[in-house]
Amino acid sequence: MASVPSLASSLDRRIADALSAALPEAGAADPLLRRSDRADFQANGMLALAKKLKGNPRELAAKVVEQLPAGELIKDIEVSGPGFLNITITDEAITRTLAERAADDRLGVPFAEQPGTTVIDYAQPNVAKEMHVGHLRNSVIGDAVVRILEFSGEKVVRRHHIGDWGTQFGMLIQYLIEHPHELDHKGGEVSGEEAMSSLNRLYKASRTLFDSDEEFKARARRRVVDLQAGDEETLALWQRFVDESKIYFYSVFDKLDVEIRDEDIVGESGYNDMLAETCRLLEESGVAVRSNGALCVFFDDVKGPDGKPSPLIVQKSDGGFGYAATDLSAIRDRVGNLQADTLLYVVDARQSLHFKMVFETARRAGWLTEGTKAVQLGFGTVLGKDGKPFKTREGETVRLVDLLDEAIDRATAVVREKAQDLTEEQIAERGAQVGIGAVKYADLSTSVSRDYKFDLDQMVSLNGDTSVYLQYAFARIQSILRKAGGARPVAHPELALAPAERALGMHLDQFGENLAEVTASYEPHKLAGYLYQLASLYTTFYAECPVLKADTPQHVENRLFLCDLTARTLRQGMSLLGIRTPEQL
Ligand code: ARG
Repeated sequence: MASVPSLASSLDRRIADALSAALPEAGAADPLLRRSDRADFQANGMLALAKKLKGNPRELAAKVVEQLPAGELIKDIEVSGPGFLNITITDEAITRTLAERAADDRLGVPFAEQPGTTVIDYAQPNVAKEMHVGHLRNSVIGDAVVRILEFSGEKVVRRHHIGDWGTQFGMLIQYLIEHPHELDHKGGEVSGEEAMSSLNRLYKASRTLFDSDEEFKARARRRVVDLQAGDEETLALWQRFVDESKIYFYSVFDKLDVEIRDEDIVGESGYNDMLAETCRLLEESGVAVRSNGALCVFFDDVKGPDGKPSPLIVQKSDGGFGYAATDLSAIRDRVGNLQADTLLYVVDARQSLHFKMVFETARRAGWLTEGTKAVQLGFGTVLGKDGKPFKTREGETVRLVDLLDEAIDRATAVVREKAQDLTEEQIAERGAQVGIGAVKYADLSTSVSRDYKFDLDQMVSLNGDTSVYLQYAFARIQSILRKAGGARPVAHPELALAPAERALGMHLDQFGENLAEVTASYEPHKLAGYLYQLASLYTTFYAECPVLKADTPQHVENRLFLCDLTARTLRQGMSLLGIRTPEQL
């Protein structure tokens, strides 16, 4: 595993050295290197430097050029305009660098210099409730961020903060006690759908009773007290709801092709033992104060619509602990026990005020210190074609499974239409990989904070910025590699490159730099953008440069080499987004 410096970074270092040789008094100066249309790169750093040293930028640039004779890296360098440098890289340097990438199973991408520990809170559905389209985002974005961080060498601890606690369990448990067979299943294994439909049935029935029968309501309320007191029978029944829900969650995550491990599911209930202490510490330190019996944290800049301060309530006046007390306790656990230096929360942007107040409270309490970063990746809303939050025609929230099934159906039709020699079984498998990929890609190619329209027609289109387009590009390359017979992908740095080969090669070389940026900013959409551009550049290359029918055997090998490296980069990038790349479509 050897990290490979990109051409841009090698060039940057060369120019920086030339700059300090030409102008020792300048100290370390940034050449401000950019990709350029006129040459490969443009360096603008001489302008600011000349200004600072009160010199002439063109003269300064000319001095730098003197220090940079053409050689194996630089083919051509010239002063242009008010004092830019235009630099063209040699074809040989491009191919050599790519060959080094190809020799490495990480494609030359370095590990982060100082990896830390990130605890990421994502994929957090609620017990006894359907998963809806919002849970698509928190799962898909979270899964991609986990993969991207792990690839960089970061230690990642996953936390699925499922909604498994609250007063609604009193009603559910009481109903189950009074109707003991409602969660029984006849023999055999229970499917996720069966589990959810019995939970739904039970939820509705108990809700109806709760709303219509005062005595049941009273019994349900007493059951909440039993649950909170840790009564064994009550807890055992609560556990049945959690287990039943997990069967359902796993079936949905499985369809979504997102791996969830049991040990990482630490729901709200997992922090119950800490809640009282969290409140005590906040009250003793004065971070929280009693207001009308409730324990509250106030903020100067958070006010309600009436202009009055709107506090974070950590404990209600009846003694009950809410969502905030749990999140504050989770921070203590994640920083204190799990040793996190970064806390990430992939949660709907509509909870941003909650997290702002929770983070601020934790800072005041000293649970989040200077060296600890807490970030909410607040995601936007999934919209229907009408631009309003996505709902069914009846105005209900859309079930995630229904969406996924529809995407798989659509994609299967596309795969079947194009399939040449695939069996029915293969068509079904690829259909799922293409359909789920399409949904994930549409989500991940939009920046996290933005809303986007859920449009299946667009998502499974073969053209445009879709995963289907990327998957077909990958599969097409695999097919070329299979058809190559005896010819192997081999780099030939001595060969001159066609413009489409250079453009493709320069972009391939940027993979590591793109990933570094994506990793630091938690922005998977920038990786999606990189991959889409890669596939587009490949399409142009493929149209302009015959591969198997190239002029000489060396050209064939070199183009196969470019094909192979493109495919490997696509596969690595897609896998970081959690999207499969079938070998054949
Ligand atoms: N269960 C919540 C929901 O479905 C998300 C939980 C977010 N995580 C947290 N630590 N509060 O909206």
